[in-house]
Amino acid sequence: MSHIYLDHAATTPMHESVQEQMTKVMQNHFGNPSSIHYFGRDSRKLLDEARTTIAKSINATFSSIIFTSGGTEANNLAIFGTAYAKKNQGKHIITTSIEHHAVLHPLEQLESEGFEVTYLSVDESGRIDLEELKNSLRDDTILVTIMSVNNETGVIQPIKEIGELLEHQLAVFHTDAVQAYGIQAIDVKELKVDLLTASSHKIYGPKGVGFLYKSEDHYLRQQLFGGEQERKWRSGTENTLAIAGFEQAVKVLMDEREKRKAHYQMLNETLINQLNAQSIDFNINGDLTERVPNIINISFLGTEVEMFLTNLDLAGIAVSSGSACTAGSIDPSHVLKAMYGDNDKRIYNSIRFSFGLNNTKEEMKTVAERIKPIVERLKNL
Ligand SMILES: Cc1ncc(COP(=O)(O)O)c(C=O)c1O
Repeated sequence: MSHIYLDHAATTPMHESVQEQMTKVMQNHFGNPSSIHYFGRDSRKLLDEARTTIAKSINATFSSIIFTSGGTEANNLAIFGTAYAKKNQGKHIITTSIEHHAVLHPLEQLESEGFEVTYLSVDESGRIDLEELKNSLRDDTILVTIMSVNNETGVIQPIKEIGELLEHQLAVFHTDAVQAYGIQAIDVKELKVDLLTASSHKIYGPKGVGFLYKSEDHYLRQQLFGGEQERKWRSGTENTLAIAGFEQAVKVLMDEREKRKAHYQMLNETLINQLNAQSIDFNINGDLTERVPNIINISFLGTEVEMFLTNLDLAGIAVSSGSACTAGSIDPSHVLKAMYGDNDKRIYNSIRFSFGLNNTKEEMKTVAERIKPIVERLKNL
């Protein structure tokens, strides 16, 4: 049986050219980029080149890129760094109820330290209401953190409009763009964001590396104390190898983004058509137009997510639910709960499919064919 990977929003395999580039770097460049001798300068050059490529990819300046160990660390740096730097001006933060845990959990920690957090609601489309954001802004709001694309539903938030709304406010604007970076053209100046998070392993780069974009005029309190790396915003010897791999992933992405989007759109449409052809009962969760083509969250009527996922895995289909699985029991997705309320069936029967470069049209047909008997079986239980 062939195994079909449809969980690219969780992580992507490394692009072949990334593997080649990393092998080269691993074999030939080991110096500490902070060392002033030849070996250090050699690694520094790689680091500088990567920073240039990555800054350019979001229309940012060279020194506004802070390399981190991934999206989680970049979000933590943005949130704690801003909260601690600005706490004398206010302690109010605005976010949404559908953020990734790498945003929600730092905010919970800040609440326990006396900060106040407003969680914007979303409707069934999974989008926030700009009026609610406007009404939630206060004189003591120091940070607004809203994700660009939701990792469970693929629904896009109106980041440009939010940037415009916040332009003349005290509040700093951070967006977690981890799921957007591989698919949307991002221009930080146009979006008017002060802070932006991205991660390498969602765009065919290695795991354990990402960046925080920080506009030049924004001050953060550093979270890691030590050496003077990353202009002191993030101490610790840079992971030159991973950063060089990340750079290569970004280079390919910049060349291929539009082509990739078209490929994902084709896969997305084919899967839907094939599910329909199999007469399977399903509904798509979230807005039907404001969404990225590589993620689709589908509710299958009459199924139950835990058993469904296990059966799909046995049938060679690797997908996921947004739900956290703790000790064999499923915690329903906080994203779908925010969209539908606590008691809706869809929070217990939804699955996320996320497409990648190596998926094919034929695979989408196979997926629908394998899903059909599983849904029938689960319905009859
Ligand atoms: C929206 C979003 N933010 C943050 C993260 C965390 O990124 P990383 O795995 O690089 O720490 C993820 C990863 O799933 C994500 O989807």
